[in-house]
Amino acid sequence: MTDRPSSDRRWPDAPVIYQIYPRSFRDTTGSGIGDLNGIVEKLHHAADLGADAVWLSPFYPSPWDDGGYDVADHMAVHPALGTMQDFDQLVARAHDLGLRVIIDQVFNHTSTDAPWFKRSVAGDPVYSDYYVWANPKPDGTQPNNWLSQFGPPAWTWNHIRQQYYFHNFTSKQPSLNLRNPDVQAELRTIMRFWRDRGVDGFRIDAVTSLLFDPSLKDNPVAAPEVRDKVSGENFVPYTYQDHVHDLLPGDGIDFVSNLREWAGEDAFIIGEVTSGNQSIELCSRLATDGGLDAAYATDLPESGATAQAYADILTRADAPGQIGWWLSSHDQPRHLGKAGDGSAHDAKFLALVLATAPGTVLLYQGEELGLTQPELPRAAVTDPLDLLYWPDGPGREGARVPIPWAEGGNRAFTTGTPWLPMTWPEGASVAVQHIDEGSVLRFYRAAFALRRDRMGDLTLSDWSRDGQIIRLTYPDARVVLNFGPEAASIDGTPDFASVPMDGEMPGRSAGIWLR
Ligand code: GLC
Repeated sequence: MTDRPSSDRRWPDAPVIYQIYPRSFRDTTGSGIGDLNGIVEKLHHAADLGADAVWLSPFYPSPWDDGGYDVADHMAVHPALGTMQDFDQLVARAHDLGLRVIIDQVFNHTSTDAPWFKRSVAGDPVYSDYYVWANPKPDGTQPNNWLSQFGPPAWTWNHIRQQYYFHNFTSKQPSLNLRNPDVQAELRTIMRFWRDRGVDGFRIDAVTSLLFDPSLKDNPVAAPEVRDKVSGENFVPYTYQDHVHDLLPGDGIDFVSNLREWAGEDAFIIGEVTSGNQSIELCSRLATDGGLDAAYATDLPESGATAQAYADILTRADAPGQIGWWLSSHDQPRHLGKAGDGSAHDAKFLALVLATAPGTVLLYQGEELGLTQPELPRAAVTDPLDLLYWPDGPGREGARVPIPWAEGGNRAFTTGTPWLPMTWPEGASVAVQHIDEGSVLRFYRAAFALRRDRMGDLTLSDWSRDGQIIRLTYPDARVVLNFGPEAASIDGTPDFASVPMDGEMPGRSAGIWLR
């Protein structure tokens, strides 16, 4: 267990952030749904991994139309997850363990259940402009050609206002009008509220969608080269457009300086770049002085973690230290299937890809157990994106299957029936891996302890790519990542490696030489 002092909560330059999806972490009530007290109980697990911080996905009141990213009240706790007192306890426990606390801020939209939206629909003059309302075209059709990021049109008709409202995601997630000074004042209040409760930083959901061109011009058609640059699956019609008007127009980048001002200088702010053909460039622009500390895009996980995608990020980023490096999240199928063959060998190699990364690292609960993506029956799935393209969707819900803390029954996640079926293979649990020296869990702990204690300054001095091999040079360490299946020769035995190696490194392995 870590014994870092609780008073020292200054942020390291390249923090390791462990993402917790609260509904799926640990249930203390038998409801089958994880809760805040469950997080309190298991927080030491993140500290034992060597994380600097935990990031909590939304725990706010929500109808869970989009897994909690459809917030009905930004300044309260979902009653199924606990109380504000539980939250305060969670922060206190985290700080005792030397962990900082980052919470998700979903500012792009609210749930249609939010009181603000209901008042806006009713035409209450105070709330009338809180959302993005637009008249239909004379023929009754939508105001422009914008599409939601999940594919369907971005406008939904409201018969009471006789207007359309805009939504970047589902029709249950109306976009806030962030140009309205009253809405901005609300967001400031929300950020201050959580800072006053001891929160140390924020993950800004969908930061790229926050602003759009108020003229509501049609997006042009994406040229083939633009479309090809969009990472990931190309089957959503969203990729047919060049998102010059609905994503961060001219003044969009400047908006993040508001977030910085509201959050405070000492808060760590990391933004999620959800889309676009300029993902890495946008990350760099968002994470400049006065803006975010870091931003991350989907390029590496969606490529399946290839040497080419890794090098591409290093080439395109102004400073790799501003990029968030990650492979798994609540939005991606578990990475061991796409980026690996599901084996412990690959899990350890990919753990070192992350543990040696030149910037903020995001770990997602369960990846440290080498979990692979479980198959879910359609009836169990609630995720709107998975359901829209079932069975070909991304598999976001599979990544949210609860954590196996022990073997047997419901794996000590719950005494009730878990909200998603848990079909983990035998031996996958924390309890078993904790006592197995060769386990993926023990490897993650060792790798991230090494990053924290022995790798020193993680500002890249140099890097190179030779086919499937990436070499990183830091002031105090040298790293070789072999993404390919072939063995490669190396000079000398590394001080730390994903598999034992001498003279040559096997395919899909990584080594670190300390100075
Ligand atoms: C972010 C979240 C994702 C959610 C979307 C809309 O991308 O990570 O889960 O569906 O925003 O809020």
